[in-house]
Amino acid sequence: MSLDWQQLNQDVTALLKEARQRVLEKMQDPLTVDEKTGRKDLVTNVDKGNEQFLITGIRRIDPDAKVLGEEGFGDQLTDIKGRVWIVDPIDGTMNFVKQQDNFAIMIGIYQDGVGQLGYIYDVMNDVLYHGGPQLGGVWANQDPIKAPTNLALRDGLIGASGPLVIHDVAHMQAIVHASAGMRIYGSAGIEMINVMRGKTLGYISHLKPWDFAAGQVLLNTLGVRVSTIDGQPLNMLSSNLVLVATEKAQRDILQIEEDDVSL
Ligand code: IPD
Ligand code: CA
Ligand code: CA
Repeated sequence: MSLDWQQLNQDVTALLKEARQRVLEKMQDPLTVDEKTGRKDLVTNVDKGNEQFLITGIRRIDPDAKVLGEEGFGDQLTDIKGRVWIVDPIDGTMNFVKQQDNFAIMIGIYQDGVGQLGYIYDVMNDVLYHGGPQLGGVWANQDPIKAPTNLALRDGLIGASGPLVIHDVAHMQAIVHASAGMRIYGSAGIEMINVMRGKTLGYISHLKPWDFAAGQVLLNTLGVRVSTIDGQPLNMLSSNLVLVATEKAQRDILQIEEDDVSL
């Protein structure tokens, strides 16, 4: 029997709403914060608890699928065949700990490596961005989102990860210099929402599959390009230097890479 994507979307939406409520409640209690690779790479009891909650719900909704979760409560994947759910229980954990704001819950659903549905939940603003080819569009809660204007690099703001700019990885300083200005929000999910809403024309960061899985589906559905910094397709099982950009800005950025421009 073929999958009922509308039903699945309703189930995922209900699951995410419940997850948000639980996160808001847990935020009232003191957090347990641990370092992963260092003092700037944090995980909390809420990240872990939310991933376990989401994966339990996903197994109920889609028992045959594989699940890749950031905190390790899913499956060990060696390939991206079949249906794969990719989960980031709290994206922007540093913001979650320091600001109690500007973080997201994210799920991307893929079939044989092709994006089907994406969900980015801006928790504090209570806006669930969802959509993909299986729904034929992207919505912010109930409101359809229009494709952002296809701006050239010089005509818009670009989101970036701080360390890439500080260390001038992949000509980041030249790219920022060629844009109208840089913004840094500290959550890949919030950055991708800003691109969907046309507030920024792109975003560049070093990201893992759970950081970009949901956003890639949503952005592609809106005609925004998601690739490596060299314009290649993303590897869904490893880290990538990710370039999100309007078509024109992608062309401008790839030209800077090709010309090997430095300031
Ligand atoms: C991080 C955030 C951050 C990005 C990092 C990600 P996490 O996700 O999205 O903005 O620069 O690369 O790891 O760890 O908070 O889920
Ligand atoms: Ca993340
Ligand atoms: Ca996370």
